[in-house]
Amino acid sequence: MSREIKKICVVGAGNMGHQISLLAALSGYDVTCTDIDREILQKAERFADTYLPERVAKGKLTEDQAKAARSRISFTTDLEQATRDADLVIEAVIEKLEVKRRLFAQLDKICPPETILATNSSYIVSSKIADVTSRPDKVCNIHFFNPALVMKTVEVVKGPHTSEETVQTAMEVCHKMGKIPVLLHKEIYGFIVNRILTAIRKEALYLYDTGVASYEDIDKAVVHALGHPMGPFKLIDLTGIDLSYHVSMERYQETGDPAHKPSPIIVEKYVKKEWGRKTGKGFYSYCT
Ligand code: 3HC
Repeated sequence: MSREIKKICVVGAGNMGHQISLLAALSGYDVTCTDIDREILQKAERFADTYLPERVAKGKLTEDQAKAARSRISFTTDLEQATRDADLVIEAVIEKLEVKRRLFAQLDKICPPETILATNSSYIVSSKIADVTSRPDKVCNIHFFNPALVMKTVEVVKGPHTSEETVQTAMEVCHKMGKIPVLLHKEIYGFIVNRILTAIRKEALYLYDTGVASYEDIDKAVVHALGHPMGPFKLIDLTGIDLSYHVSMERYQETGDPAHKPSPIIVEKYVKKEWGRKTGKGFYSYCT
C-alpha cells in the first residue's frame, strides 16, 4: 500500500531541517535541503561537513558510509530546483500557520502531482494547511523530535483528507530512517508528545515565574526525580525559545484564551534574542 520514495526535499534548514536532511541522506535517500536564508543553509552544510567525519572518528560510520551520505545531499536556496523531482517534501519552516499555508500553495504548484507534502510542524495539524493544495490526500504531518538524528520517535498524523497510501508511505520512510514511528489516527493540536511536554513546561515556567525555585533547581528536580534526560529549561533552550514564543502566540491568537499567552520569562528572552542553543544563550549559556 505504500509508495516508493527515492528523493526527499527538506524545506527549512534550521534547528530541525538540517538534521532531518542528514538523517534522510544517511538512510539512503537522495536529499535536497533548501532554505531562503543563505546563511542558515551554509550553517546546515557546515554541520553535515563536521558531523559526518565526527561519526567516522567515533567509529559510528565507515568512511564509505559518510562519503555516500554526503554525496546524496545537496543544499540550495532555489525551491523549484530542490523540489523538482522530489517524491516527498518535508516542510520544517517557522511555526507560523500563514507562512506554512503560503509555502504549501507554492509547493503544490511546483512539485510533481504525485509528490507527498508533509509538515514537520510541532503543533499544527495538516488539515489547516492541506486545503491550499490540489492534493489533500497527499498531505500529512511527519513530526520529528530534536535532535532529529538522535530521537527515535516520529509522529505520523493522518488527517481526514490524508489517504491510507500517504500514511503508509510516511510510516515506511520513518522505518527506513531507523525511527519508531507512532501513528495518530485523528488530528489533535500538539499531537501526543507536545501535549504532554507543554503541560510539563507550563508548570515549570509557572514555578519559575512565581519565584518558587530557580530554573536550575527545577531542571535538577525533573532530571533526578523523574529520570528525564534533561530538565524543562534545558529542553526549551534545545528546541528554541523563539519556537516556544511563536507557538504560544499563535495559539493565543487562534483561541483568544490568555492561558495560552507566552510566560513572562519567555517573552523577555524572545525580545532579547536569547533563543537558546542556537543564539548561544537562553536560560543557560552555550559556546556557539
Ligand atoms: N545533534 C546530533 N547528535 C547529538 C546531539 C545533537 N544536537 N546531541 C547529542 N547527540 C548525540 C551524540 O553524538 C551521541 O551520539 P552517540 O551516542 O551515537 O555517540 C548521543 O547523542 C548522546 O550524546 P551526549 O552523550 O553528548 O549527550 P547526552 O547523553 O546528554 O544526550 C540528548 C543528549 C540526546 C539531547 C539527551 O539529553 C536527550 O535525549 N534530551 C532530551 C531531548 C528531547 O526531549 N527531545 C524532544 C524535544 S521536544 C521536540 O523536539 C518537539 C519539537 O516539536 C520541538
